[in-house]
Amino acid sequence: MKLLGISGSLRASSYNTMLLAEAARLFAPKTYHMADLNLPLFNEDITEKPEAVLALHAEIVAADAVIIATPEYNKNLSGVLKNALDWVSMVRPAAWAGKPVAILSASSGITGGVRAQYSLRHCMTTFNPRILQAPEVMIGNAAEAFDADGRLGNERTVKLLTRQMEALRAEAARMAG
Ligand SMILES: Cc1cc2nc3c(=O)[nH]c(=O)nc-3n(C[C@H](O)[C@H](O)[C@H](O)COP(=O)(O)O)c2cc1C
Repeated sequence: MKLLGISGSLRASSYNTMLLAEAARLFAPKTYHMADLNLPLFNEDITEKPEAVLALHAEIVAADAVIIATPEYNKNLSGVLKNALDWVSMVRPAAWAGKPVAILSASSGITGGVRAQYSLRHCMTTFNPRILQAPEVMIGNAAEAFDADGRLGNERTVKLLTRQMEALRAEAARMAG
């Protein structure tokens, strides 16, 4: 299966990007690719879609499943991620319709980005993807949750993430028919 990872953080040492890497290891896809969200700011005056937007759209279309990890900034999803969602919504065919998606988050706060996750769900409703309802995976106090190699130390967290990736794989298999 082809798995696509989308991190809402551009930070080099992003915990959300680390979390995606952990999730991808557990999903064990045939191919795993990380999307590049370094896009121009969305502007309706830009009538010719940037190459990077078309590339992102094509990657979503081609993926059997997508994992999205968002940081929580001021109790909401990241602007970087919202910008990407707006760009992709302008490209046809609709990239997200029926797409199996798992949402994750990591934050330095104790709530682990749960509010950002719900904002992201809300934003994506209009695209009609197959977002998993459960289990929910959010990593609080991220600085302590990951070791120096970006690996999750807590066994219960790894089990939860494993269950989420199993559910995503099952959904992808169902959608593939
Ligand atoms: C402007 C700003 C706002 C933030 N707001 C929140 C917040 O509302 N909730 C939270 O849990 N963490 C918040 N944080 C902390 C982030 O969770 C933390 O910076 C996290 O590491 C960002 O994700 P990343 O590691 O993937 O880049 C905020 C950080 C910044 C810079």
